[in-house]
Amino acid sequence: MKPNNPFIITSEYLGSAYFCDREFETKVLTDNILNGRNTVLVSDRRMGKSGLIAHAFDQAAVRETFRTFSVDLYATTSLSEMVFLLAKEIIGPLKSHGKKALEGFWSVVKSLRPGFKLDAVSGQFVFDLALGEIRLPQESLKEIFQYLEGSGTPCIVAMDEFQQIAEYPEGNVIELLRGYVQKCKHTWFVFAGSKRRMMEPLFNSPSEPFYMSCSPLYLEAIPQEAYLRFASRHFNEAGKRISHEAFRRIYGLFEGHTWYVQRMLNELYAWTPPGEAATEDFVQPVLDHLLKLGARAFREQLSTMAESQKRLLIAVAREGKVPGVTSYAFCKKHALKSPSTAQSAMRSLYEKELVTRDGTVYSVTNRLFGLWLRNEYGE
Ligand SMILES: Nc1ncnc2c1ncn2[C@@H]1O[C@H](COP(=O)(O)OP(=O)(O)OP(=O)(O)O)[C@@H](O)[C@H]1O
Ligand SMILES: [Mg+2]
Repeated sequence: MKPNNPFIITSEYLGSAYFCDREFETKVLTDNILNGRNTVLVSDRRMGKSGLIAHAFDQAAVRETFRTFSVDLYATTSLSEMVFLLAKEIIGPLKSHGKKALEGFWSVVKSLRPGFKLDAVSGQFVFDLALGEIRLPQESLKEIFQYLEGSGTPCIVAMDEFQQIAEYPEGNVIELLRGYVQKCKHTWFVFAGSKRRMMEPLFNSPSEPFYMSCSPLYLEAIPQEAYLRFASRHFNEAGKRISHEAFRRIYGLFEGHTWYVQRMLNELYAWTPPGEAATEDFVQPVLDHLLKLGARAFREQLSTMAESQKRLLIAVAREGKVPGVTSYAFCKKHALKSPSTAQSAMRSLYEKELVTRDGTVYSVTNRLFGLWLRNEYGE
């Protein structure tokens, strides 16, 4: 399907034509898959993890050999919900393969049997699993792994926003999964996550069970020149142009951060009539427009924050990048009580993902929010 605007800003994957670069990362991920390695994929939010997984799954070598499944655990809060999503993801494609395929699942994943109902009118089995019907999530998870292992085709399971499992009340989920993952001979995994603070302890600490069991892949920004070629191609295909200066300005504003660059290009593309060029003059009005669209939500978010956190967030936005340990001079400049208050406020902002950490340096996670704060509260 050809989209009206080639700069996709949803998490939907529409094929390689709309996917910029990532050649190296795609090769690493597909090589891992083809060589029986589990992968842990980490990046800042909105850098392109989910897109990369979809792109790797779309490569012929993967598509032709494996059954691929993806679950996004972001909104899940318990093992039951994870099992629910996984079961639904597996069942989805089986439906089009008819009753036999579904029965294959059913005969192994017995604990979910109540989820299958015989439709009185059509005489067909319908899968109508409700979350409340997952009564023995551990048992169901075990059966799901048994099913994948015995299905006759090797499988890849991507668990997106994997760090979420650390929040499940059932405490032992990571150990449980490790047990299954290690036993699998025909099923491989991609664990993706955004919060470095959670992904790293989950995978790097020797005391944690996943230690050493995965091959790591970190996603940084797409290189500027590759992104420029991608942007130019799409403008050109529609009889439009984008000046190199305009592109470089956008890339620089957001340090190449994928979603923000995509969002700007998407808007700029819409603003440029065929036969015309998007020049640097367009960039500021497009940015102002996006900031205006976000303003209400940004204001609302600020209004719910404690004073010390709000001040610190504004300070981080004004400075762009701020070290974790702040000085008295910094506190004075931004009307913060003391370095220790600032430090605990920073911890809270980090917990809430309002700031991101790169090494020891913090910045506002949502780059548009950061720019808006700078506009509103800058000198
Ligand atoms: N290589 C790419 N080329 C073009 N667009 C991309 C690329 N990678 C990601 N995108 C786009 O950037 C946005 C963010 O990508 P994606 O959702 O994959 O990031 P993510 O790291 O999974 O984010 P989150 O942390 O929110 O889960 C999406 O709109 C996606 O379509
Ligand atoms: Mg994602």
